[in-house]
Amino acid sequence: MRRPFIAGNWKMHGDRKSAKQYIDEFSVPKTAVAKRDIVIGVPFTLLQYWGAYATRVKPYLQWAAEDVHWEPKGAFTGDVSVSMLKDFKTPYCIVGHSERREYHKESNKQVNAKMNALLEGGIIPIVCVGETLKEREAGKKEAVVGSQVRGSIIASAKSLDLSKIVVAYEPVWAIGTGKTATSAQAQEMCKFIRKELAAGLGKQIADGIRILYGGSVKPDNIDELMAQADIDGVLVGGASLKAKDFSRIANYKEKKK
Ligand code: 13P
Repeated sequence: MRRPFIAGNWKMHGDRKSAKQYIDEFSVPKTAVAKRDIVIGVPFTLLQYWGAYATRVKPYLQWAAEDVHWEPKGAFTGDVSVSMLKDFKTPYCIVGHSERREYHKESNKQVNAKMNALLEGGIIPIVCVGETLKEREAGKKEAVVGSQVRGSIIASAKSLDLSKIVVAYEPVWAIGTGKTATSAQAQEMCKFIRKELAAGLGKQIADGIRILYGGSVKPDNIDELMAQADIDGVLVGGASLKAKDFSRIANYKEKKK
């Protein structure tokens, strides 16, 4: 049984005031909290506050960083290292988000180096993969996502224990567009990713890895997405900015898989 993983990604949104209001307002019944991991990715500037305040008032509301540098230290202006994230007891970190791959030209090799640094430092990576609309329409979705999975993740199979990582399938065409992949499209690709993971890491490890779907997840499509066999959670952008919406998402209604 894979424990459901419901994650938000605030991207470049939020300050202390809005974070406090959000944490105060966020509310999920104890029964759901006991069975699910609930995590919000926040900007670096909020890690310390979130850790301190949420731990006190909503201890189940965990947090993630949104990126990290792979080097332990050095002349990398504006970057943040794993040990800096550990200063704030950050349990998770997103890497390889399509916005980083696109705007910062991050390669699979760099994403892989970030994943490795996180694992070596004891932080759980949430590794993102996903194809663009152009790639999908050209019939290349499996080729693109397969090479991202191999290059960003499986490349480390021999040197690291990858059983605790989280993988997020986020088709670029569904991010921030309001165009959600249908639950069947999302399931198809999450299943494909699990197959790739099994080929590289072995079936037992692949069966234990949590695979999330991300891209226009909302309160009105979460129940259906979470009912899919290979979808173990979600990574939510826009709808995670409203405490009420994300509370509903985290409190999704379970259906038999
Ligand atoms: P939206 O939910 O706003 O489409 O964003 C998805 C995403 O990029 C989460 O990382």
